[in-house]
Amino acid sequence: MNAPESRIQPATTAALKFAGKRLREGALVAFPTETVYGLGGDATNGQAIARIFAIKSRPSFNPLIVHLYDLAAAEKVAGFDDRARALARRFWPGPLTFVLKRRADTKVSELASAGLDTVAVRAPANDVARTLLKAAGRPIAAPSANRSGHVSPTAAEHVAASLGTAVDLILDGGTCTIGIESTVLDLSGERAVLLRPGAVTAEMLNREIGAIDLADASDEKRPRSPGMMDRHYAPSIPVRLDATAVEPGDALLSFGAHAIAGFAAERNLSEKGDLTEAAANLYRYLRELDWSGFRTIAVMPIPEEGLGLAINDRLRRAAAVTEGAAAIRPKPKRRRRKQEAKTG
Ligand code: TXA
Ligand code: MG
Repeated sequence: MNAPESRIQPATTAALKFAGKRLREGALVAFPTETVYGLGGDATNGQAIARIFAIKSRPSFNPLIVHLYDLAAAEKVAGFDDRARALARRFWPGPLTFVLKRRADTKVSELASAGLDTVAVRAPANDVARTLLKAAGRPIAAPSANRSGHVSPTAAEHVAASLGTAVDLILDGGTCTIGIESTVLDLSGERAVLLRPGAVTAEMLNREIGAIDLADASDEKRPRSPGMMDRHYAPSIPVRLDATAVEPGDALLSFGAHAIAGFAAERNLSEKGDLTEAAANLYRYLRELDWSGFRTIAVMPIPEEGLGLAINDRLRRAAAVTEGAAAIRPKPKRRRRKQEAKTG
């Protein structure tokens, strides 16, 4: 009964009520959002937050996103200005996270903000997430429910394979519809800065509030968003981008119709070349092709437009080989790797 899968429960009304109670008691509950599965804990409970960092092997300088039911709840945690309010009214609930100044009177643990004077807040759109937030009745900190630096989970079984029995409960709400993490927009200063591209694109933000700066983490010694490290979202075998041909032993991650032949395995992100479909399939397919028997994962070019920007951002991080990589990427345990390959 100790198999990781035994932690998975269908997200029924009863299970959601129970999960809300467990969160208030300090337990960690993984739950689906429209983007990826989150590893949730009571954001006001320092011990619960510390356990999230420990389970993920997440560096303690990398702050978490605090999930709220709606704008009214978020305004109790963070200081909203006119821009943030306008965007929240337009895009919440949904895949958009704001980095804002923490309110001095918030009960959210400083650990969740990693000691910064800012806090990331988001109201997710997924029904299971919303019902859970209602049931918990407090802010829920939830990073993606994977080990730090690895591929984010888009299904309950990915969470079980990645975090095993370290999680108290995994609510199964099916596959995530969007499939890549929320857009992160820093509104804590005068300029609006896009820290992480996502389904709410820079053009969509620009239409509401005017000019948006694109964060360039490579410029700075210390990136503005601690999570914007070069290598991230990474499988265990090398990833090669913009592939137009394969070498023997390569697994091919394709996009649209193509004439490439000779690969050892293939997953097509979207045969009809649809970026929304590609985003939803991205992490599942990266997991499925992440097997030590393959030489590399060769990835066909993805158009750099709309959701393609977010997809390419994640793929570039998956492919990056940097000195920082070892520091942020704990060595996978052999057994865990195999499990992931099997269930992924
Ligand atoms: O879609 C999502 O956002 C998912 C689901 C579960 O909601 N969550 C997620 O969380 O992706 P996480 O922790 O994996 O990514 C949060 C990102 C990190 O890059 C982190 O550095 C950044 O947001 N972040 C959080 N708080 C911040 C802050 N105060 N200032 C700058 N960046 C912050
Ligand atoms: Mg993450």
